[in-house]
Amino acid sequence: MLAGKRILLIVGGGIAAFKSLDLIRRLRERGATVTPVLTRAAEEFVTPLSTSALAGQKVYRDLFDLTDEAEMGHIELSRAADLVVVAPATADLMGKMAGGLANDLASTLLMATDKRVLIAPAMNVRMWEHPATQRNLATLKGDGVLTVGPDVGDMACGEHGPGRMSEPLAIVDAVEAALLDGPLKGKHVLVTSGPTHEPIDPVRYIANRSSGAQGTAIARSLAALGANVTFVTGPADVPPPLGVKVVKVQTASEMKEAVDAALPADAAVFAAAVADWRVANASGSKMKKDGSGNAPALEFTENPDILAGVSQMKKDRPKLVVGFAAETDDVQANATAKRKRKGCDWIVANDVSPETGIMGGSENAVTIISDEGAESWPRLTKDQVAAKIAAKIAGALA
Ligand code: C5P
Repeated sequence: MLAGKRILLIVGGGIAAFKSLDLIRRLRERGATVTPVLTRAAEEFVTPLSTSALAGQKVYRDLFDLTDEAEMGHIELSRAADLVVVAPATADLMGKMAGGLANDLASTLLMATDKRVLIAPAMNVRMWEHPATQRNLATLKGDGVLTVGPDVGDMACGEHGPGRMSEPLAIVDAVEAALLDGPLKGKHVLVTSGPTHEPIDPVRYIANRSSGAQGTAIARSLAALGANVTFVTGPADVPPPLGVKVVKVQTASEMKEAVDAALPADAAVFAAAVADWRVANASGSKMKKDGSGNAPALEFTENPDILAGVSQMKKDRPKLVVGFAAETDDVQANATAKRKRKGCDWIVANDVSPETGIMGGSENAVTIISDEGAESWPRLTKDQVAAKIAAKIAGALA
């Protein structure tokens, strides 16, 4: 909850500005007061009137607006808030912040504030990946600026990749984490994520299509609720979240070792798509064609079941163990059986048939199976699913 918290929301000029209107609504739903500031470019995307109507507040727009200066100077405005949020943070705004420019109201407030600043970057993929933006990002992080996103996905400009502004609910999570001692403060939560790569030889491996998006979003949401998160990740497509302890692994065996090393934990979420088998006769040097036309025969051996191992620990078992069941048929029946077999407390079941577009996509439709039965959630973004799972975990550990 953000009751009584005051947010100064600086809206930059990008297509994602429309999402900031929803962000205002979400922040206010949680009890925050939102004072919006629009850059001139932002006014090309959202109107001062709609922004002000949603915020229930005056919108600040111009550094030289004398009435505002009479009511509240820009220094005071920058300090009256508990947190300054920049959403969307465009490449231009990030550049100004990193360079210390103060040539309009938004950049002046950002220079004058004595409060923490959280930015939600949003821009074209190439602009995000540009060395100048990455340099500015590193500078801002070094200055203590908090970040949320950007997400990977399809963009309004037709390209695909990192650059989409985080969803409003994910930004709200980050705001809560920045302002509050969340309900998971003091709790250690272990999260596994991503695929594993099982070597055939030093250059070839067996893998699966997991992007790591759902596990990453869960780790981010748990951290946003104040948890101390250890994030054990295979080679995922998405970068690990900020504010968690990251342990990078390649194989299932390495993942098991990392999990064992990270325990004890209050809760453990096994979102990784761990390979069930590894190549038993993996070669230490690159395998070559021998001209005979015979392909090498790979032999497989079963990988350790990390989830089952932790679920069935006799001593120091995490209070809550959550597994995933990615199924293509009879999702609920298979997941219910899997929960029994593995011994975990909850199974988050989803249908990963290709036609659902869930594996590697940005949305998920899950059913949570627990002692209390099956609870199906509607199709949501992976960030929204993550926020709901994190909140449910917080409830269970309370
Ligand atoms: O048996 P299956 O792979 O379908 O089970 C999926 C669940 O078990 C996921 O939570 C996954 O992270 C976990 N798992 C594991 N170690 C394995 C295989 C699966 O932790 N070797």
